Amino acid sequence: MTASPESHYDVIIIGAGAAGLMCAATTGYRGRRVLVLDHANKPGKKILMSGGGRCNFTNLNSTPANFLSDNPHYCISALKRYTPQDFLELVDRHGVEYEEKAPGQLFCKDSARDILNLLLTECDWAGAQIRMKTPVTGIMESGDGYVIATASGKLRCQSLVIATGGLSIPTMGATGFGYDVARKFGLTVLPTRAGLVPFTLQPELREQLAPLAGISCPVEVSCEGQHFREPMLVTHRGLSGPAMLQISSYWHPGDSLDINLLPTCQIQDDLMALRRQKPQATVVHYLNQHLPKRFAQAFNELSGWSGPLQSFKNADIERVAQTLGDWVIKPSGTEGYRTAEVTLGGVDTRQLSSKTMAVLNRPDLYFIGEVVDVTGHLGGHNFQWAWASAVAAGNDA
Ligand code: FDA
Repeated sequence: MTASPESHYDVIIIGAGAAGLMCAATTGYRGRRVLVLDHANKPGKKILMSGGGRCNFTNLNSTPANFLSDNPHYCISALKRYTPQDFLELVDRHGVEYEEKAPGQLFCKDSARDILNLLLTECDWAGAQIRMKTPVTGIMESGDGYVIATASGKLRCQSLVIATGGLSIPTMGATGFGYDVARKFGLTVLPTRAGLVPFTLQPELREQLAPLAGISCPVEVSCEGQHFREPMLVTHRGLSGPAMLQISSYWHPGDSLDINLLPTCQIQDDLMALRRQKPQATVVHYLNQHLPKRFAQAFNELSGWSGPLQSFKNADIERVAQTLGDWVIKPSGTEGYRTAEVTLGGVDTRQLSSKTMAVLNRPDLYFIGEVVDVTGHLGGHNFQWAWASAVAAGNDA
């Protein structure tokens, strides 16, 4: 029996997230008959929740150094061929208003929905169809491509693109589907773990820090030879804020974090000078100059520093400076996929073409976006990877 034309596509993309929608529009504009399938009830859910509802859709300063991968050179080609400026031109063409909230980080001025609407409009103009609430129950090879089994029937395609993302935020529809497909076709999937995720602390430390909950201060955090100078936020569960999210992607269980609470200060010199100039001043006076007052007070109490600086010997000042400049904390873990922004690891890129994102020995099967082992830093890099990898595949599929 021959398949009806309605069930026959040039390209089927599984996953209607950032990468899947971008790929659908790109390949649709090339005149390909495209269908996007997704098991969720609505497309682009993560786009809508991203950037606090305003989607940090790219980073003007994105370079390959902003990405983690077991194969660090893999992302270079796609990122070079589709740049943040390219996406910005698309944003401008759709009249989406945006602002640079931090250096290079572009956010929608109004709502993340503007980015989702942009992608859906592009898909519409490109003639790409999107079918939601359609779980895929099987993928079989056929002579000239693939047969995709769904609850509502079988679909055929020449090229298949897997854009099902990672494991983070299962309540938003995240699954390990893409990894299963990769394994089914003999690809290696590198171990996955939660990234850009808050840390949890041992109960004792959590209780000690409880008075600081809700306070944010700029710190420099280091782990595994990586450093980030960004704000840290103390929460009731542990440590969060951009500095902690960034370093979490490099952290492994058992690692300590080195936190410099005053990264712009010469702490020991400052305290010595203050002791000379104002012998009655206390450590908390000094901390108040540089940290939020509540944080300064609570951290001082936590550390047990009391009395005027004139009662501090040089060795005492050295110890204070050491604690403030290198506060060592051992997290008990992370909040895991429940709240992680991304999933580290995934489909091993050594088996994929860096030009097309297709499997090297199977050029009609593509993996794009978060499902592959390319993970960006916080700040718009992950969407930039979604756009760049999607365009690379969309120009080939
Ligand atoms: P994505 O997860 O977007 O899409 C995958 C799609 O596949 C989903 O629609 C899902 O329903 C579907 N799917 C999964 N399993 C399936 C199955 N078995 N069958 C059919 N469909 C299936 N990044 C950034 O650059 N700037 C930011 O501001 C933020 N902010 C942010 C906030 C939060 C809370 C999170 C969780 C994440 C971010 N990110 C981010 C990261 C960013 O959202 C992420 O990197 C991209 O959405 C990845 O795009 P993908 O298209 O690869 O996956």
